[in-house]
Amino acid sequence: MIKLPFLKGKEEEAYGNQDPGAPLIELRDIYKIYYMGDEEVHANDGISLKIWRGEFVAIVGKSGSGKSTLMNIIGALDTPTEGEYILGGIDTSEMTDDELAEIRNKMIGFIFQQYNLLPKLNILENVELPLQYAGLGPAERKKKAMESLERVGLQNKWKNMPSQLSGGQQQRVSIARALAGDPSLILADEPTGALDSKTSKEVLNFLKKLNDEGNTIVMITHDPSIAMNSKRVVRIMDGKIMFDGDVKEYAAKL
Ligand SMILES: Nc1ncnc2c1ncn2[C@@H]1O[C@H](COP(=O)(O)OP(=O)(O)OP(=O)(O)O)[C@@H](O)[C@H]1O
Ligand SMILES: [Mg+2]
Repeated sequence: MIKLPFLKGKEEEAYGNQDPGAPLIELRDIYKIYYMGDEEVHANDGISLKIWRGEFVAIVGKSGSGKSTLMNIIGALDTPTEGEYILGGIDTSEMTDDELAEIRNKMIGFIFQQYNLLPKLNILENVELPLQYAGLGPAERKKKAMESLERVGLQNKWKNMPSQLSGGQQQRVSIARALAGDPSLILADEPTGALDSKTSKEVLNFLKKLNDEGNTIVMITHDPSIAMNSKRVVRIMDGKIMFDGDVKEYAAKL
């Protein structure tokens, strides 16, 4: 368990989420409202959602439906206008920006459409970066980063620069980076958006494998066929949840 200093010894209680039946993520009536002149945009319009450890959830919806807004809230990158967000037993609505940054660093592994690898660092250094932010020393950082690269099958490429890898390999590096700190939650925003269909399949199979190993995954996609790789689908429209259920039930409705 990684200690979050601001919890001041309450990690067990907050982190461990003593009640095994308690959700990892709980959104309670979340609103995100943007004010554009006289107009109010309800990007998230009363979203309540619970996600348990070990789930693989796809959040789907058309462009502008509020997916990224929701992802930013789940990822503690942004705070809601109204409502509460409880992550691993921690109420994030009362956190300062620094505390949110720490939660982000230690509890969440991010995977983005464009990989977001730093071009001037080799892939081992890229994977080490979040561990450095989390305060680990050089030796431990290197060891964990190497283990993480092994998990995605790229340990023999550790010296390569990102530009020397294929798109799929770069995405696997970004997955290794997301996994390195052993996060409670893996949050992927259109993880296959920049990949061809064969490489997309590889990456999706890898996410499935991670989920089989017990990792909790929340994946944002606009593509219903990509959502089929998850186990549960949440569809949003105009900032509201229109469907939340088993992937088979979702598939039957298409
Ligand atoms: N910073 C902002 N200021 C004002 N309006 C915003 C802002 N960010 C998002 N919105 C609006 O909120 C709504 C939801 O946007 P969001 O980015 O969450 O959609 P999305 O589902 O991720 O779409 P896409 O699939 O195109 O990425 C849209 O109407 C958008 O215009
Ligand atoms: Mg978006």
